Amino acid sequence: MAFVSGPLFPIYGYKNVKNIMLAQPRQSDGPMVVAALNDPRVYMNLNGPPYPYTEKDWEEWYLFVSHAARECSKEYQVIDEELGDQGRDPKEREYQRKRLIMQSMWPLTIRIEPELLRDRLRGESAFIGTITPQRSIFLYILDEDERQRRKQENDGLAAGDPKIIWEVGFYLIPDYHGRGIMPAVLRTVIKHVLIQYMNAHIVEATYFEHNSSSKRVLEKCGFRIVQLVPDAIALPPTKTNGVTGRKVGLGVMRWQGA
Ligand SMILES: CC(C)(COP(=O)(O)OP(=O)(O)OC[C@H]1O[C@@H](n2cnc3c(N)ncnc32)[C@H](O)[C@@H]1OP(=O)(O)O)[C@@H](O)C(=O)NCCC(=O)NCCS
Repeated sequence: MAFVSGPLFPIYGYKNVKNIMLAQPRQSDGPMVVAALNDPRVYMNLNGPPYPYTEKDWEEWYLFVSHAARECSKEYQVIDEELGDQGRDPKEREYQRKRLIMQSMWPLTIRIEPELLRDRLRGESAFIGTITPQRSIFLYILDEDERQRRKQENDGLAAGDPKIIWEVGFYLIPDYHGRGIMPAVLRTVIKHVLIQYMNAHIVEATYFEHNSSSKRVLEKCGFRIVQLVPDAIALPPTKTNGVTGRKVGLGVMRWQGA
């Protein structure tokens, strides 16, 4: 299905780079992902991926994310085709709103399209990062039982329920930091994915307390600080030159729709 690897959403409003878009993950992204997740400018700000990050880690992760992305894109395609067929009548729009994406996670890659039309037609594009809207995993709730309870409750809400708490996680490869790309990407994801296809009213994001760039991105996109949880995350010794027990605080920010 061409859609699976083709562009989904164009992005506007960033500096010094052209033709950014969101698209499905590709297996060939592996070397870029492995390089990014072994770079301290990236891995010191992320909780999830293992470090060091190996090709095997990528292969396993790719199986998981490509499946999730395919399922989302199938639903997206059905919804969009129905919307196209039904035009803009308010009753039909109401019906369309009930056809929301059911999946709990939509892993998207951030890519640059090539300048040349010929290359674009071939579907070429370069991976520069990822952004994943998903139902919250409540990383900031430190009590494991309570965290699981909140997650199950949130996962149990039906697609389109405005009470669902969503979250976004993201990174760019270091060459593209500081050009205003992520705020533009995040605004697009909130407007064109989370609101439009998931009926999101609440979106949260967490950042390590030292990560002022991430906090700034969230502020630029209308998120407000909810809490700072001290010593929330234990860093693995691989990230701290073998020092055990080092912890970082976790900032929690929230965007709330009208
Ligand atoms: C955090 C991250 C997503 C920011 O995305 P971005 O597209 O670089 O964001 P911006 O260009 O809007 O920069 C955000 C802020 O970071 C700071 N910043 C970013 N890059 C910088 C650089 N090279 N030098 C100085 N300041 C920089 C600036 O304060 C900027 O705010 P300003 O525009 O108001 O001055 C990106 O740096 C990244 O991927 N980092 C590694 C992984 C990560 O931290 N992920 C988020 C986990 S919660």
